[in-house]
Parts: sequence; C-alpha cells; structure tokens
Amino acid sequence: MRSERIDDVLVLTLDGPPVNLLGRPMRRALLREIENAASQAGVVGIVLAGSPTFSAGADLAEFDSGDGLAEPTLHLTITGALDALAIPSVAAISGAALGGGLELALACTARVADPGARLGLPETTLGFMPGAGGTQRLPRAIGIEAALDLIVTGRAIDAATALELGLVSEVSADPVAASVALVRSLASSAEPSTRLRDLVLDEPLAEPFIDSARRAAARNPRTSAGVLAALDALRAAATRPFDAGLAYELELFERLAASPPARAARYRFQSERGAGRTPLGATPAVVDSAAVIGAGTMGRGIALALLAAGIPVVLIDTADDRVEAARDALTAELERSVERGRLSTAQKDDQLARFRAEVGIEAAADAALIIEAVFENLDVKRDVFRQLDAIARPDAVLASNTSSLDLDLIAAATATPERVVGMHFFSPANIMRLVEVVDGTRTSEQTLATTIGLVKRLRKLPVVAQVGPGFIGNRIFDQYIRQANLLLRTGAGPERIDRALESWGMAMGPFRVLDLVGNDIPAMARAAAGTSDPAFAVADDLAARGWLGRKTGLGWYSYEGDVPVPNPGLQIEASLPAVDDDELVQRCVLALVREAAAVLDDGIAASAADIDTVLVHGYGFPAERGGPWFFAEATGWDRVVRAMRRWHETTGDEFWALPPSLAERDAA
Ligand SMILES: NC(=O)c1ccc[n+]([C@@H]2O[C@H](COP(=O)([O-])OP(=O)(O)OC[C@H]3O[C@@H](n4cnc5c(N)ncnc54)[C@H](O)[C@@H]3O)[C@@H](O)[C@H]2O)c1
Repeated sequence: MRSERIDDVLVLTLDGPPVNLLGRPMRRALLREIENAASQAGVVGIVLAGSPTFSAGADLAEFDSGDGLAEPTLHLTITGALDALAIPSVAAISGAALGGGLELALACTARVADPGARLGLPETTLGFMPGAGGTQRLPRAIGIEAALDLIVTGRAIDAATALELGLVSEVSADPVAASVALVRSLASSAEPSTRLRDLVLDEPLAEPFIDSARRAAARNPRTSAGVLAALDALRAAATRPFDAGLAYELELFERLAASPPARAARYRFQSERGAGRTPLGATPAVVDSAAVIGAGTMGRGIALALLAAGIPVVLIDTADDRVEAARDALTAELERSVERGRLSTAQKDDQLARFRAEVGIEAAADAALIIEAVFENLDVKRDVFRQLDAIARPDAVLASNTSSLDLDLIAAATATPERVVGMHFFSPANIMRLVEVVDGTRTSEQTLATTIGLVKRLRKLPVVAQVGPGFIGNRIFDQYIRQANLLLRTGAGPERIDRALESWGMAMGPFRVLDLVGNDIPAMARAAAGTSDPAFAVADDLAARGWLGRKTGLGWYSYEGDVPVPNPGLQIEASLPAVDDDELVQRCVLALVREAAAVLDDGIAASAADIDTVLVHGYGFPAERGGPWFFAEATGWDRVVRAMRRWHETTGDEFWALPPSLAERDAA
C-alpha cells in the first residue's frame, strides 16, 4: 500500500502484484490508510488506485481458511469506512476492477477508468455471489436491469460500456490524474457529494422485474444457487433500506460461501489456473502459423480452434476429395457460427482468408507448429512423423493428437524427438477446452513451453501428462467404464446404471457414452492389447454382433425411434448379488479415485488438481463436485479406503487392491 500527497489530495495505491487481491493483510493496510486520511489536515479528498491493475477482488483461498470474512472485512468495515469519510473519494481504475475490486470502487464517491479497463462482478460464475455490497450498490449506480444482467452472467464490461451505463463518470488514459482533478471538483462543489448508499432505488417496476427473472431462473435446473441468492439480494436492494439490504446480502453470502458447491467452484477455479505451468527457464516461442495433418473429425476441429485464435492454418490430407470435403465442412461450420451470432461476417471472412486445404505433406514445410491427426495407427503415424522430420522447418514443433498410442514410439521415428509432443484434444476440438499436453521422455522444455503457451492462446486448458497408456484421462475413465460393465452382472441393466450416474451428476451415463464412441473402438483396442478381461464379455459380444451403438442404430440401446430404448435383444445374466443405486454410483466413482491415485503414484499427472481438471473438462464429471479427488477428500479418505477394501474382499477384483499412496492413508 503506497500513500502519496498531491497537494490537497491523498492518493492511496494498492500494490500487491500481480492483481491486488484483497487478502487480509491488504485489507488491514487499506483500512489503516483510509482512517489516517480522515484525520490528516488539509486533505480535501482521496483517490484510491491500484498498480498495475486496480484489483481482481477477494483472495478466494481465504474463504476456505476462514480469513475471507475476518476483520477488517471488505463487506462492512472497509466499504463502511469509505462511506463514513467526510471527504469525497474517487476510484482510479486501471486494468481490472472485478468482484471485491469493483465493490471497493463502488463504495467510493465516484469512479474513473482507463480505456482498457474491465469491470465486473464474476462471483456467480464461481459458485457464490457478490458480498461486499455489490448487489446493493451496483443497481443504485446503473439501474436494476443492467445490474441484474452483469451479476447473473458474471461478465466483465469495458470502460466505454461502463461510461455509458454510468458505472464510471469518466474514461481517461491517466485515471489517477483525472481522479485527482475529479475529487478536487467534488470537494469544492457547493452540493455535498452523494454516495450510492444514500440513493433510493427509484424504479417502480424493479420488484416485478426481479421476481419474474427469479421465477425463470428457478425453473432452470442448471441455475446455480449463487444466481438465485444474488437475485434475492437484488430484490432486497429494490425493497429495503440500504443497511438492511446490505445485512441481508451478507447473510446470504456467508451461507453460500460455506456450501459444498461453492467450495468446489473455488477449487475448480484455482485448479484450472494452476494447470499448465510452464517449465521454469523455458521461453515459449510464438506460433505464427500451423499445419494440421489429417482432415477428419479431429483435424477440422483443431483447424477451427487455431483459426479462431488468429493463427493461419493449412489443413492437409491425402486426396482431393477429402480436402474438398473438409474445406466445405469447415466453411459451413463458420457460416453456422455467423447465423448463431457467435461470429461476424467479417470475422468469418478473415478466418477463411487465413485458411488453406491442400493435398500432400509438403504443404506443412513453413509451419511453426504441425499437429498430426491421422488415423489412430502407430505405423501410419510413424510414417507421417518420419516425413515431417524431413520437410518441417528446423524450429517447428511436431505434435500428435494420438489418444492412446505411445508418444515415445512416434517421436522415435524422427531424428529430433526433442521437438515432438502430444496434444490430445477432445471432440469437438473447436469447443472442448481440455487439451492433455503429453510430455514425451525426450520432449524438450522449450517444446513443452511453446505447446502450453499455444493451448492457452487457444483459450483452452492445458494439463501436462507423462507418457503412459491412456495418459491421464482415458486411463482413469477406462476403469470407471470397466466397473460399469462389471455391475451388469448384478442384474442392473445399462439403463439403470446410466440413470443412477446421471442423477448423481455425470453428464452422460457410461453406456450412453459407449454407444456414442462406438462399441467397436474399445473392443479393437482390447483385442490389439491382447488382454482378455472377463469384465468386458458382454461388451465384446456386442461389438462382435455389430451392435456398435448410435452409428448402427443398435448398441446398449436401440436408436430406431426418437428416444433411445433398451436394446430388446440384449440379455445379460445376473451372476452376482444385487446392489442398490447408491452402491452402483460409489463403485463407478471410486474407481476413478482409485485409478487417480495410481496415476499420481506413477507420476503420470503432476497433481490431483490436474486430474480433477481432466475429468471435469473431458469426461463429464460434475463440476459442482469439484472432481473425483476433491469428492474423495470431501467424503473422507477413511470411508473411501474402507469401501475399496470391502469391495476387494467381496468381489475378489484385484483392481480394488490399494495403490501405494492409498495404502499409506489407510495405515496413517
Ligand atoms: N474422434 C475423437 O473423438 C478423437 C478424440 C481425441 C483424439 N482423437 C485422435 O485423433 C486422430 C484422428 O481421429 P479422427 O477421429 O479425426 O479420424 P478420422 O478418420 O475422422 O480422420 C483421419 C483423417 O486422416 C487422414 N489421413 C490418414 N493418413 C494420412 C496421411 N498419411 N496424411 C494425411 N492425412 C492422412 C484421413 O484421410 C482422414 O481424413 C486419431 O489419432 C484419434 O485417436 C480422436
């Protein structure tokens, strides 16, 4: 915290890099300075600034440690001290004022923003709600309708929009100087300055408007508890005096912040920020052009993702008709985005201007990054990499989108394995955010850093995996699928198992997933691996009969009508005791946890948080449960381990033998 006198104005600058989180030490310093300001002779006003950015809000970790609501609170004490000042205050907003940062600015008499500033209250996207007066002061500043929109969507607005809405009174390239001038003029004005807390929200239609918004939100099962609570607090802003509304907001906030979904949301936020740490000492190279080899489902999606980030792309396949088909499909996809309002016509034209589709691998010669997405066949891929090694520019990164093959064997087909890396995209690659970045045994730190940097530039989530069968996600998810298959023998049909897991929160039940993937794919992988696991007897039989799932109209379900129904030809004999739905769910979900522990023990993933990110973003694990590991911690490891031991005994399935790190927990 810096404090500086500019003649009769006191400028207080938050300086907690990188983003001025309002943790407890920062709040203590802030309160001290505000109180000092009140007692300094000759000070006519204060300017509150932040360097280099105003403030990104609360330190989320404090809501788990308990410090988030400890004195001095932003909610009442600090905003209250600003409200109580006899002199005016102006927030000079550079960079970002988000969450608690914007709430701090709202407690000042006025606000000035730099042209690049972003302002918003993103709390509802993090499982909770604005808590430091945001729901009470924002509607008083910009009206109920605009406030409701910003709070419910959690989106940030730019300075120009903030000016239009009246959230800031000025936009200036030098917000501190402009704030100093503004606070002086406020101080010298004959009128006493009004603060937002002094205003009465004079909108006769506010109450019915909020009520109808709340009813609509409550009807949607996907609406978060945070949004509903925020709407309740907004209603209080419209119907109660300021202090009563503020107290009500805090009550709702405290209850919500301690709830399991909010804890999971904070964990998710922090896990995702931690994913894809760049190796120390390596500087990512800028990727200014890319080639994608293989113009199938994945190649097209990857090309779209690159184009959307402004990177020129050449998409390559082996024959004219394939290249043409890909060009048509990609153009149609961009046109659909224009129709849906996601892209302007100019943006679409721009992307198409940067796109080429060609026959022959030589077209990749100039690309800074080459992503291979040809058939999932080791010989084919090795052949492609051998050719790429010869024609690619020497500094190019060579990436493979393999989902199951050994990256080291692919890299060994080149003379330069240090520039070979895995980029395991998920389908549809232009939509799904997760990318497993596979760090081969010989991949260099430079290559890894460049790849991670690129994934972030695509606005996706990079999670680094070491080489091993199935990397992180497929290896863990395969065990979940295996348990679901085993449970068929208890007499539970695919439909009941799917329904139980979907009600628990999985995006799609395991058998519906299998029908979507195609039952031939895992059956072929099992045959190729030469393993025979009786758990998959029924699944292999399905594949042998040609019941491949959606693509053949028959699989675990029958897809002939509009609604899938159980496949009438599927007879599964029950040979094990029946189990209830709760146990069905526990066995499948704890299979994820058991394998996650093994993946950590083997060093394939760097952290449990990374594993949770993969399962939530790639496999439909419910985000509000944080991820399998977070779920296990919330359940309690003793219960988790006890269940695994019990299943080991009762089913005789060696899978439930505890991996070393879980055995240690058991002994502890
Ligand atoms: N489909 C998915 O959900 C998914 C998800 C993650 C990863 N993957 C992986 O992505 C890769 C591609 O999968 P897909 O589903 O897009 O397959 P696909 O069959 O749709 O497309 C593969 C394309 O590669 C082309 N091709 C084959 N050999 C080539 C060569 N030597 N040079 C240039 N082009 C060649 C084919 O003509 C075809 O157009 C596979 O490794 C797969 O495991 C797929």
